Amino acid sequence: MSDRTEIESKVHTQPGRNTPDAALAPHPVITGAYGGPEGKRAFVDTIFDATAADYDRVERWLSFGTGRKYRAQALVRAGLRSGMRVVDVGVGTGLVASGITSIVGDANLVVGVDPSSEMRRYAHEALGISVCAGTAGGIPFEDASFDFLAMGYALRHIADLNAAFQEFYRVLRPSQSHHEGQLCIMELTRPRTLLGRLLLRGHFGLCLQAMRLCCRMGPRTPELWRYYWETIDQCISPRRVMEALSSAGFVNVKRHVVGGIFSEYTATRPDHDTSSAPSNT
Ligand SMILES: C[S@@+](CC[C@H](N)C(=O)[O-])C[C@H]1O[C@@H](n2cnc3c(N)ncnc32)[C@H](O)[C@@H]1O
Repeated sequence: MSDRTEIESKVHTQPGRNTPDAALAPHPVITGAYGGPEGKRAFVDTIFDATAADYDRVERWLSFGTGRKYRAQALVRAGLRSGMRVVDVGVGTGLVASGITSIVGDANLVVGVDPSSEMRRYAHEALGISVCAGTAGGIPFEDASFDFLAMGYALRHIADLNAAFQEFYRVLRPSQSHHEGQLCIMELTRPRTLLGRLLLRGHFGLCLQAMRLCCRMGPRTPELWRYYWETIDQCISPRRVMEALSSAGFVNVKRHVVGGIFSEYTATRPDHDTSSAPSNT
């Protein structure tokens, strides 16, 4: 698989913290899944609650069993180190958090946040970490509580990326080093070519068919993975994600891409507080 890194300074050269008024949705309303923007939160919460028991199994099939290792490698690339205090937003069943725990070396340094009570239960049972109810836009911790923030495959489920990235900035400690990422957002990105999109969509469909034949699945699991594909296909561009991180005040915003579809966004909260800086839009 090929690796590539894009650096945010190509799209936004002047760091400074804006407070954008407009909400930034990660994708348009998926009308086949929920009626309008106000229906998304309830839909996402209920579908993740209903499918939590199947999540790890489906993920293993889709990633050919490489998902955990890949997540841990991405965290190391982003600069996660032993002893850091970390929040994993959208912790799910704990696939990112298990990598975090082994890198930082102490489960007490790691907390998970997730709106789905079933996902939280699985993460807590699997890893023994503390897991709280919350969302990317509402992280139930004080300002500057963490050295590092991770989020795996939850970006598409957030209502407003601008509000979420401001919240990420708030809970992170200012960093002394502008060369290290303190934030790592992993997300699947729509393949650039039609062939790539057909292959990825086909891969999702085939894995689900194969799983249907050889194991039991909850009734809403196929619906989750169809929705999953729709949100990848309709997600805003990586450039918009990077611009939103910059607008929230992050510096050193980068995107590392593996295999053309695995995006790793990294960024740093600067040591000087830019929250009173004038808007540069
Ligand atoms: C696809 S799972 C990813 C789980 C895990 N991070 C991983 O890498 O496998 C997405 C998780 O994001 C959670 N989620 C949904 N909406 C969210 C939001 N607004 N903020 C944070 N997490 C959210 C879901 O409940 C679900 O557990």
